[in-house]
Formats: sequence, structure tokens, C-alpha cells
Amino acid sequence: MRFLSILSLAIAASSAQASTFPGYSFTTEPTSEIKNVLSHYCIILDTKTYSDLSKVYTSDAVADFTTIGLGVLKGLPAIETAMNASLFGIPTQHGMTTSYVSDISEKSANATSYYTLQQFGTGNNTGQLFTVWGKWVDELVYDNSTWKVKNRQVVAMGGPLIGNFIVPTH
Ligand SMILES: *[C@@H]1O[C@H](CO)[C@@H](O)[C@H](O)[C@H]1NC(C)=O
Ligand SMILES: *[C@@H]1O[C@H](CO)[C@@H](O)[C@H](O)[C@H]1NC(C)=O
Ligand SMILES: *[C@@H]1O[C@H](CO)[C@@H](O)[C@H](O)[C@H]1NC(C)=O
Ligand SMILES: *[C@@H]1O[C@H](CO)[C@@H](O)[C@H](O)[C@H]1NC(C)=O
Repeated sequence: MRFLSILSLAIAASSAQASTFPGYSFTTEPTSEIKNVLSHYCIILDTKTYSDLSKVYTSDAVADFTTIGLGVLKGLPAIETAMNASLFGIPTQHGMTTSYVSDISEKSANATSYYTLQQFGTGNNTGQLFTVWGKWVDELVYDNSTWKVKNRQVVAMGGPLIGNFIVPTH
């Protein structure tokens, strides 16, 4: 009972002001917050909930997808439209592995994250896979209490794309 009341005090304290209660806080640690935003991006693309891209990119974000054929996307609406057009009707799994956050300052940070995109065939292509390996080289900004990507460079890695090209072109 005593433990429970301490716990609820701690929760109240941390929602009022993070890091005031000794030994218990939800403080905003930039590295893990940034990685969480980048992980959220994977989930948004796989669930095709593109309006949530506003939680990942700033409204004026520039995302250079030239290496995977989508060109330079300027602004959130252009990014949303291109993601939908590129992934429409294709079940996917975006995995993010190595993620290195650097150059953290009060209002900005850089991050380089490796990703693997699996596209799964459906219908006659069930069982077929198409795989893209790449990395995101991101510049993030901190504003309105959240980190967001302001500039993204998509870099293809490892040479030829692997798998059945029927999948992304169906
Ligand atoms: C923060 O919020 C303001 C007001 O809604 C908005 O103008 C600004 O673009 C936001 N900043 C970012 C980085 O999204
Ligand atoms: C997504 O793309 C499909 C196929 O091009 C299109 O029919 C649909 O209207 C698009 N949806 C949105 C929200 O842009
Ligand atoms: C963040 O990355 C960008 C692009 O690579 C670079 O121009 C910038 O200098 C980096 N920021 C810092 C603080 O090093
Ligand atoms: C699937 O394959 C069958 C047999 O080749 C063909 O008749 C059918 O049109 C194909 N369906 C689609 C959606 O391509």
C-alpha cells in the first residue's frame, strides 16, 4: 500500500515536472526519444497511417529519396503522397537496426540509421519478397517538445536490390 502511494506520487510528480522526484523520472533523454521517433516512422509506413508522418517530419521537411527513385520530396504533403503512391497495396515491414545519434545540441541533432524494407507479394505473388537495404541520414530539430526530422537523405546500400521485382511493380 505504502509502495503504491509512493508510486502514484512519483507519477504525479513526473507528469507535473519530469526529474523532480528522486530516483524516478520520465526525463527526456534525446537519444532514446530520437530513436523512438525513427521507430515510429517504420510503424507508420507499415500500417499505412500516413497522416501520422506529421509526428516524424517537420511540415517543411525535405526528404531526398533520389537513390530509391522517388526524387527529392519537399514538405510533408509531398512526402505523404509519395509514400502512399510507392507502397500502395503492398504489405511491408520496415526494420531499423543500427541507429547512431550524434551532434546533439539543445535544438538539433543528427542521426544515421540503417533500415531494411521487406515488401511482401500478394495474390499470385504470395511468397515473393523484395528487399531494400539502406540508411537514413537525418538532421532533426527539437521544437514544441518533440524531435522531428527536418532533413533526410536516403542512401541505398549494398548494391543491387534483392528479390522479385514483380512485388513493387504489381
Ligand atoms: C511548432 O508549432 C508551431 C505552432 O503550431 C508551428 O508553427 C511550428 O512549425 C512547429 N514546429 C515544428 C518543428 O514542427
Ligand atoms: C494512395 O494511392 C492510391 C493509388 O495511387 C490512390 O488511389 C489513393 O487515392 C491514394 N490515397 C491518398 C490518401 O493519397
Ligand atoms: C549534421 O549533419 C549535417 C549534414 O550531414 C551537417 O552539415 C552538420 O554539420 C551536422 N551537424 C553538426 C552539429 O555536426
Ligand atoms: C494470377 O495468375 C492466373 C494464372 O496465370 C491469371 O489467370 C490471373 O489473371 C492472375 N491474377 C492476377 C491478379 O494477376
